[in-house]
Amino acid sequence: MKPSLIVHGGAWDIPNEAVEACKSGCHRALAAGWSILTRGGSALDAIEAAIMVLEDDPVFDAGYGSHLNLDGRVECDAIVMNGATLRAGAAAGLQRVKNPIQVARKIFENCPHMMLVAEGAERFAKERGIQLCKPEDLVSEAEREAWSKCKTDKHAAAHHRGHEQGTVGAVAMDRAGNLFAAISTGGTCCKAPGRVGDSPLIGCGCYADSEAGGVSCTGYGEAIMKIVMAKTAVDLLRQPATCVDASPAAPCDASTANIAAREAVHLLAKRTHATGGLILLDREGNPGFAFNTPRMAYGYVALDGNFVTAV
Ligand code: GLY
Repeated sequence: MKPSLIVHGGAWDIPNEAVEACKSGCHRALAAGWSILTRGGSALDAIEAAIMVLEDDPVFDAGYGSHLNLDGRVECDAIVMNGATLRAGAAAGLQRVKNPIQVARKIFENCPHMMLVAEGAERFAKERGIQLCKPEDLVSEAEREAWSKCKTDKHAAAHHRGHEQGTVGAVAMDRAGNLFAAISTGGTCCKAPGRVGDSPLIGCGCYADSEAGGVSCTGYGEAIMKIVMAKTAVDLLRQPATCVDASPAAPCDASTANIAAREAVHLLAKRTHATGGLILLDREGNPGFAFNTPRMAYGYVALDGNFVTAV
């Protein structure tokens, strides 16, 4: 089977000056995941490698450089999900982990439970060989400055380069046909300590079912949760495609994968009046994406093997 890979770096009002950094981050994430997939490696290894690149890049809201909560601390969430078994591994409220996706993977592989939070998740990670860092090691100068402005003025997207929430994600299919989806996020800026969004919640931010497809969402978590967006998008892949925004003047020529993605975003807007986006692979590995924010950073590997990245 031909492998497939799609990644995103969040759907938000990406300012012009951040466009190249976002594109380059997505390109490097694709390169990390694709080199694994083309050597016959697993979809799980590929999404972990891709997400780690995005977590390490402070232009994205995940890992180092995540938004700070009201206490001025980074709190990260992450999940991986296997489409074959429907098993997930998720972690939330991590304050001392550089790459939260590694914790999600350890939980997926080694824990009888599917989700651990905060101190318990960090203890589990440490016992499985993941080195814990100091909370301040995750704080970038830019986010510290944004947080200070929000504290002295009031919370505003403008203080965060127009970046109110963000997430990074990846969906991959390997040569054996295994399908995995994943997410990592620092959540929303100035969130209440302990707040958990859609990202690590199975079916909300992320879902994978090899019978239909795999999805990774981005946007305002409290809205995405309301429509269980990732599971909703996967279920849309099971149905015959109906183009929500087609008209006689603009007939629908989108792929089934893109139609399902658009329908899910349409539902998010209609039922919650919120903005966001998602990436997906259908069960054959065809990529799809949609967003209703001004921009979304994303990239996928085209049929000819070329990397397509866009913001
Ligand atoms: N979608 C990321 C969050 O709301 O936490």
